[in-house]
Amino acid sequence: MANGKQATQFSAHEHYRESAFKQVWRDDLDSVFADIASYYDSANYVASLGLFGWFRDTFLSTIDLRPGYKALDVCAGTNATGIALLERQPDLQIIAIDRNQEMQKVGRERAERKGFHIESVIDDVHKLPFPDNHFDLVTIQYASRHLRLFDVFSEILRVLKPGGFFYHADMLRPRNRLVGKLHYTYLGACLTLTAKIFGSGRKALDCRDYFLEVLSNFYSAEELSELLRHLGFANVTHKTLLGGLLGFHKAQKVSPVS
Ligand SMILES: C[S@@+](CC[C@H](N)C(=O)[O-])C[C@H]1O[C@@H](n2cnc3c(N)ncnc32)[C@H](O)[C@@H]1O
Repeated sequence: MANGKQATQFSAHEHYRESAFKQVWRDDLDSVFADIASYYDSANYVASLGLFGWFRDTFLSTIDLRPGYKALDVCAGTNATGIALLERQPDLQIIAIDRNQEMQKVGRERAERKGFHIESVIDDVHKLPFPDNHFDLVTIQYASRHLRLFDVFSEILRVLKPGGFFYHADMLRPRNRLVGKLHYTYLGACLTLTAKIFGSGRKALDCRDYFLEVLSNFYSAEELSELLRHLGFANVTHKTLLGGLLGFHKAQKVSPVS
């Protein structure tokens, strides 16, 4: 795709996502996550038919760690990524940022139970409250679909040190439309079932359609790689599972050539 045409397509897509979902992003999502925080991890396990560990291990296998690295986990939720990284490399310095107090409370308690410390920053991630060139690595898992990606990815690039890596995991739009259709039907049934099992509140139930729509309007693995390159990341690679339903991206910040 030519650069100019690609830029126009990405901004049209981001504009569409924002206009379609901004009301939920702004007004509803925070109370949904507050509502589900106490059972979020168990619900993920049930909804993925127990495959959640496989998804997490595949993501972790893409991440290179060195002793003492300073890492930022964006939209950290219940600290699933931060805890898994510390289990592999206990001397990492990890900062979690998420705007939801309840998700982070669960995350802090989970980390403490394992004897880990993860610093918690409660804030919106569209503007990261950290200096330029600050982190060796940045992670984000299962959250991008709820965000304005031009803003968040540009901020991630800014706070990464030159040479540092960004690791991204999320459900993506599969290449095959039939796979997508089957997946969204399954997810819809799953959301209803987990809501029943865990007794979800009104806010979470009302957002069921949003969760399906935001995913079906998200990027494919190839598109996300192109978007990362378009926003200035280098050495972008990805791997996928289940026909592209899940994608794991790795991208680097390189120093500008002087
Ligand atoms: C589906 S959870 C994923 C949590 C965690 N990364 C994981 O892998 O389990 C999405 C998280 O994104 C957070 N989030 C959504 N929009 C946000 C925003 N604009 N600023 C900060 N956090 C946000 C929510 O509060 C929630 O904790």
